[in-house]
Amino acid sequence: MRRPAPAAALLAATLTGTALLTGCAASSGTGDAKAELSVHSAYMPQPLSAAMAAGFLTIENKGGAKDELTSVTSAGAEDVTVHQTAGGVMKEAGPLTVPAHGRLVFESGGNHLMFDKLKRAPRQGQTVLVELHFAESGTVKVEMPVKSATYNPTTGH
Ligand code: CU
Repeated sequence: MRRPAPAAALLAATLTGTALLTGCAASSGTGDAKAELSVHSAYMPQPLSAAMAAGFLTIENKGGAKDELTSVTSAGAEDVTVHQTAGGVMKEAGPLTVPAHGRLVFESGGNHLMFDKLKRAPRQGQTVLVELHFAESGTVKVEMPVKSATYNPTTGH
């Protein structure tokens, strides 16, 4: 009385698995693969003072090779560092990888950019110009909009 197994569904699942494996093998392959970076969702919550501010963004890589974010600069701040938050403690991070066909996310509670000694305190509605320096892709300039101090990108749209 059993109905026949859904063979078509099983076959489809197997094929999908194969396709994924093939895709991975191809992307880690030969030397002409390049990183193709784009930056989106950049914002800075309005800081309390010019002493220190945090910044967030997402770096997307549509290319078949990884890249590394080696440093960050801004004309509006004396120093910009990349921080990682782990277990509630933040520390300076080394070069962070943007994986091939992947993304590097800076978000509240995780990785963030730390601006030290800003020339003036950024106000909501202004933008802060940031230069991201990559090992392969060179410098990418980003205009980071200043949002309210409590801005949350998951509810803020
Ligand atoms: Cu920090």
